[in-house]
Order: sequence, then structure tokens, then C-alpha cells
Amino acid sequence: GADVEADISKIEPGQLIRVIWRSKPVWIARRTPELLASLANDEDKLKDPNSEQEQQPEFAKNRYRSLKEEYLVLVGICTHLGCSPQHLKDGAFEQYVEGVPEGFFCPCHGSKFDMAGRVFQNVPAPLNLVVPPYMFLDDNTILIG
Ligand code: FES
Repeated sequence: GADVEADISKIEPGQLIRVIWRSKPVWIARRTPELLASLANDEDKLKDPNSEQEQQPEFAKNRYRSLKEEYLVLVGICTHLGCSPQHLKDGAFEQYVEGVPEGFFCPCHGSKFDMAGRVFQNVPAPLNLVVPPYMFLDDNTILIG
């Protein structure tokens, strides 16, 4: 079928894996407690911090945008013109947004997103990255679709 099962049992805290769902890249990131705490810090720099945009599951309309706070699931396609942003961590993102050590950077026109996929201000992407429909089949398995 069109739905995809992802094994998340081997994702270490701080890691991100990629799967393909309906020909689209989907990212699954395991966020550390420190990273989750940091999501509160830069909300004045975001376009839509509470993710009130349409076209996403209800559970994504908040700071964490996930079913379980630890696991972020996103469609890895820029909401501007469809390039695939890069995941930058360990301080590499900070050259784009001061004080934010990890996030997603789109090389096509410079849009920037945090580790909940929320878009920063003053970039061309209009919306946060899309959270696809998904569910946990068990503690180790996510069904996307
Ligand atoms: Fe990502 Fe334009 S496609 S910024």
C-alpha cells in the first residue's frame, strides 16, 4: 500500500532517519530533552509558533508538533518551492539563526526551520514544514499514512 512502516528502535537521541512515503522524503528525528526545552526559546523569531496553519493533523498545532514529544515526523520538503532542506546540528545551524544550534536549512532560497519544523521569519517559505498523518503501531514502529 501507500503507507510506510518505519522502525524507530535504532534511532539514538539526537539522530534523524529518512524514509520515503508516497515518493516524498519523510524525516523522523529523536529529540533530546535539551532540544525539546530549547524550542521555547526562539518563538518570537517564528512565523507561526503554534502551528495554526491548515493541512496538518490536529496534534501538530502546538510547540512540539508530534504525537510523542521525543519523535518529530516531518515531510522533508520546503514549503516554498519544494527543495529538500538540510538537517544541520552541533552548531552548524547557528550561522543561519544565532543561538539556535540545530534545525533545517533550505539551500535553494535560504528558508530556515527549527526542530519542530517551524519556519523562521524573513524567509520565503510561507508555512511550517508539513507533519504527515502517522500513528505508533507500538513503541518501536511508526506507520506513516
Ligand atoms: Fe526552500 Fe525556496 S524552495 S527556500
